[in-house]
Amino acid sequence: MMSCTPSHSSRPFYFGSNFKMHKTTAEVRAFVAFLKETAAVYPGVQLFILPPFTTLGGLVDIPRPANVWIGAQDMHWADSGAYTGAISAPMLRDVGADLVMVGHAERRVLFYDTDQDLNKKILNALRHDLRVLLCVGETAEQRGYGTTEETLATQLRIDLHGFDPRALDRLMIAYEPVWAIGEGSQEATPAEIEPAVQFIRGRLVALFGEAGQTIPILYGGSVNAQNCMPYIHSTSVDGLFVGRAAWQPEGFLSVLKAALSARQTVTS
Ligand code: PGA
Repeated sequence: MMSCTPSHSSRPFYFGSNFKMHKTTAEVRAFVAFLKETAAVYPGVQLFILPPFTTLGGLVDIPRPANVWIGAQDMHWADSGAYTGAISAPMLRDVGADLVMVGHAERRVLFYDTDQDLNKKILNALRHDLRVLLCVGETAEQRGYGTTEETLATQLRIDLHGFDPRALDRLMIAYEPVWAIGEGSQEATPAEIEPAVQFIRGRLVALFGEAGQTIPILYGGSVNAQNCMPYIHSTSVDGLFVGRAAWQPEGFLSVLKAALSARQTVTS
């Protein structure tokens, strides 16, 4: 097994969940209450959730600590206009969102978001002071043809085109191989993940110089309390991005605890 990089220990740990098309406002409010308690126990961990758009406005009145971010699962690249059904960055700011995710595989595949669209979204999110979580990852077919690196390089180059290096502290990357995401997918091994994470790190440095070293890279795709320890032990990821296994507070906490105990053994 590969060992993780020494920089691992000095980085903050990021841990978040994408709720996808699940949960009512009352359910998300209860989850935020749980997150606040968890954030107090783990002050060194940056926690975040991405609930559905409809619940965001119902969370504005809940004060939250700096290590809890609430974000949206997507946004349109325009501020306003004739885009029926879409939500813009100013609207997300209006409901107090800290963060927006762009480029989730389900958006790329099911809603045909292109890299050019994602680039426009990212630049507009920055204009409105939102943090950005950019998801990148190859399909099974791309991996099968040996084009994982080309895929990741293209995604990063186009999606981050024109990204102001002064705003790099507002960027996180999630490496999510499409074949490892969601129900019925295949769990990735650390040996499959680590070369891709290192490649992403190399591209970030190529794009932004040494500052590229500071951008958090998270792993996502069928992460759960049972499999997360090797991901922490044997890859250089800065955090985990979890779907199904973290939709309930108990699940969220058990994956977080397992990840942190693995991290403890890595850093001690
Ligand atoms: P999963 O979802 O953990 O349920 O595979 C991950 C994701 O879609 O981001």
